[in-house]
Amino acid sequence: MKDKILLNILQGVQDKEGYLSEKSLKEISKKYNIPISKLYSVATFYTMLKTEKQGKYVIELCGSPSCVLNKGRDIEKFLEKELKVEIGETSKDNLFSVYKTSCIGCCDEAPAMLINGEPYTKLTIKRVKEILGELRKNANT
Ligand code: FES
Repeated sequence: MKDKILLNILQGVQDKEGYLSEKSLKEISKKYNIPISKLYSVATFYTMLKTEKQGKYVIELCGSPSCVLNKGRDIEKFLEKELKVEIGETSKDNLFSVYKTSCIGCCDEAPAMLINGEPYTKLTIKRVKEILGELRKNANT
């Protein structure tokens, strides 16, 4: 099977179930006769594929040069401290998963991040505090 087809299958399952669970990977392995080791290697290679359950809000902070040079690291440190996570982890309340990503095409408005695929730009710590507050409020309503 071509990798592009496999990626489409994995992405489709993830879109439906939120992440690629061990159970899902075993089912795909059986259905398409693909070794489970190959599925894991593909699923863990591509950053858009997740093998662990995600928070309600998936934050992908840009880690490319324009953002890093525009205080992106300050935003990263703030997110880790505020959400009590390391990059790649999900907060204990299961609301936020935080990742770093490469350029998301908003360099002229750096630093930037995506939350569930939506861009947030010209970030400051104050703005990120507001965004997290709004998301927490929305999660509880
Ligand atoms: S470098 Fe961050 S959006 Fe391009």
